[in-house]
Amino acid sequence: MLTRIAVFVSGGGTNLQALIDAQKNGILKSGRIELVISDVADAYALQRARNNGISTAIVLRKKFSGQVAYEDELLRLMDIYQIDLIILAGFMRILTAHFTEKYPKRMINVHPALIPSFCGKGYYGLKVHEAALAYGVKVTGATVHFVNEVPDGGKILLQKAVEVLDDDTPERLQKRVMEQAEWILLPQAAEMLSAELAKRGEKK
Ligand code: GAR
Repeated sequence: MLTRIAVFVSGGGTNLQALIDAQKNGILKSGRIELVISDVADAYALQRARNNGISTAIVLRKKFSGQVAYEDELLRLMDIYQIDLIILAGFMRILTAHFTEKYPKRMINVHPALIPSFCGKGYYGLKVHEAALAYGVKVTGATVHFVNEVPDGGKILLQKAVEVLDDDTPERLQKRVMEQAEWILLPQAAEMLSAELAKRGEKK
């Protein structure tokens, strides 16, 4: 039985695309993307999912009275789709223990830096690369880690270093980190965990 995967997104969805491509070319073979959830109605990631026949859901935070109600709706969808593994791929919202405790060691995130550098609250997307350049680091990279209630605080699964060049802009650095690290690590981690969950028979 394949591990059933949900991918949470907020933006362009290039990491989602890497997962879809991995599913097509057999790198991701022990799991299958069943649902893509976005907290942004017009996120291009949703189009990528639709183009590939993957179910989508838009869950806007502002439609809910509070964080618990919002997370309850996400949990409801996880139940309906019988999701075993959650992948945060450019999801720009912090989830609390109310949600994360339901998926211990079953939820991962990709972060565009070498944790514990440039991570935690306020470090997301391009801001991470702006901070890395401002600090003047010569090496950065990406990290795939388990998600718990501490932003970017869960156990590290995979990391890959990427060189910072003298003439980098945040945009150029972001692109290199994606190409050389994120789009490789995330599918690898997805397959690793999918295979493990399927083997241990620990599907939900
Ligand atoms: C990626 O670089 C991802 O690592 C980062 O946002 C970008 C999303 O791009 N995520 C975070 O900063 C989360 N803290 P994408 O939508 O093209 O995958």
